[in-house]
Amino acid sequence: MRIVFIALISLAICHSSAQSVPPPAATPTPAAPPNTTQEYLDVHNQARAEVGVAPLKWSQNLANATSLLVRYQRNQQNCSFANLTSGKYGGNQLWASGMAVPPRTAVEAWVAEKKFYNYANNSCETGHQCGVYTQVVWRKSLELGCAQATCAKDVASLTICFYNPPGNVVGEKPY
Ligand SMILES: *[C@@H]1O[C@H](CO)[C@@H](O)[C@H](O)[C@H]1NC(C)=O
Ligand SMILES: *[C@@H]1O[C@H](CO)[C@@H](O)[C@H](O)[C@H]1NC(C)=O
Ligand SMILES: *[C@@H]1O[C@H](CO)[C@@H](O)[C@H](O)[C@H]1NC(C)=O
Ligand SMILES: *[C@@H]1O[C@H](CO)[C@@H](O)[C@H](O)[C@H]1NC(C)=O
Ligand SMILES: *[C@@H]1O[C@H](CO)[C@@H](O)[C@H](O)[C@H]1NC(C)=O
Repeated sequence: MRIVFIALISLAICHSSAQSVPPPAATPTPAAPPNTTQEYLDVHNQARAEVGVAPLKWSQNLANATSLLVRYQRNQQNCSFANLTSGKYGGNQLWASGMAVPPRTAVEAWVAEKKFYNYANNSCETGHQCGVYTQVVWRKSLELGCAQATCAKDVASLTICFYNPPGNVVGEKPY
């Protein structure tokens, strides 16, 4: 049995709070588009390295599954959170108003729950969602796939990552 945590984190990012999003570097030639796959991996794997957990590998299969799901949530569910409780993968979600968010911002929102997580007794401060962090650093999760959909002309975005094998197994510590 495991618990699937949903990130009920709503980032109220408005266009004026630009400090959370680095400005694009000025380049003389058109910049290559950012490698979002690498960015999702890098932020996860940095958080994992900080606690001595081996890196995740990208799974195109998981990425395709999240891509289908975010598009379904956008097109059929008014961009609301997906119900992941019966899925076979671990899942983290982020809904952000105002704009599409860089992969880094989404994953950092989950990692930010680290400060509310107490490793010694594997507990979380009341009112917080440490499960999104413990899934990021879950040692037995080996593969990652993520996708984002922007909703209603960019007034919101929904980001979903899947993890395989799933983490947050009841009674186990993440690492
Ligand atoms: C993006 O990064 C991934 C993971 O390292 C790599 O497999 C892929 O080839 C890169 N894509 C591009 C377009 O560079
Ligand atoms: C993922 O989707 C792409 C594009 O639809 C497809 O070409 C590829 O075969 C799929 N890969 C997997 C592992 O499902
Ligand atoms: C869809 O979501 C938007 C923004 O949260 C809301 O204003 C709208 O009423 C919702 N529409 C439906 C059909 O639920
Ligand atoms: C999510 O799905 C599970 C299993 O299918 C169901 O029991 C639960 O009520 C659903 N939750 C919501 C919020 O719809
Ligand atoms: C876990 O330990 C922290 C710090 O000692 C404490 O504040 C918290 O109440 C403990 N939680 C549980 C569920 O034991």
